Amino acid sequence: MEFQLETNRLYLREISELDIDDLYEMDSDPEVHRYLFQNPVKNKKQLLEVIKMIHQQYHENGIGRWAVINKETKECTGWAGLKYCREPLNHRSDYFDLGYRFKQKHWGKGYATEAARAIIDFGFTTLNIDVMVALTDPEHHKSKKVLEKLGFDLIEVFDYNGYPTNWYELSKNNWIKLNDSSSA
Ligand SMILES: CC(C)(COP(=O)(O)OP(=O)(O)OC[C@H]1O[C@@H](n2cnc3c(N)ncnc32)[C@H](O)[C@@H]1OP(=O)(O)O)[C@@H](O)C(=O)NCCC(=O)NCCS
Repeated sequence: MEFQLETNRLYLREISELDIDDLYEMDSDPEVHRYLFQNPVKNKKQLLEVIKMIHQQYHENGIGRWAVINKETKECTGWAGLKYCREPLNHRSDYFDLGYRFKQKHWGKGYATEAARAIIDFGFTTLNIDVMVALTDPEHHKSKKVLEKLGFDLIEVFDYNGYPTNWYELSKNNWIKLNDSSSA
């Protein structure tokens, strides 16, 4: 299968139905869904529907969540990517949302940061996006840490169907500035 992006330790490629066992291991884990409305999947059929939706995003927007593959073991460790959101949320619509999700056994290895860095770079340089958005639960300290390390700014906390949610943004200009200063 064609790789979209490569980092030191990871390949990113389109998600396929062949990833279903790995995705099920991840998405049936209540800990993985702790800050995702606490609704882990109950069967693989539900995941096949999710994969269909992701394929629709590839088809309609040329982008979507990608499988994150460990280069050495070839395991699908989770997913990360940009989703184009047309529907209004928090008074915004038509924006790119950065997201990531990994099997619990792979947390704390820096995969989210490594995969997201490559995706952000691709989004700003190849897709020429102006601003990216990311959402997280205010209590989700790991995810907040990842976003802050990448340079996202907390814009506001809004009410997402009754759940307080952090709305973060990162502009292309800030990304360029941060990366120029880190290589200086
Ligand atoms: C959130 C998630 C993607 C993070 O993935 P990860 O690969 O473990 O993240 P990384 O290792 O790249 O970075 C995590 C950072 O959080 C830090 N961290 C861990 N626990 C923390 C805590 N309690 N408070 C603050 N920072 C914490 C780590 O030290 C690390 O920072 P460092 O590299 O500067 O040391 C992963 O936990 C996950 O898949 N969770 C389930 C799905 C999910 O919640 N997705 C995000 C929805 S917004």
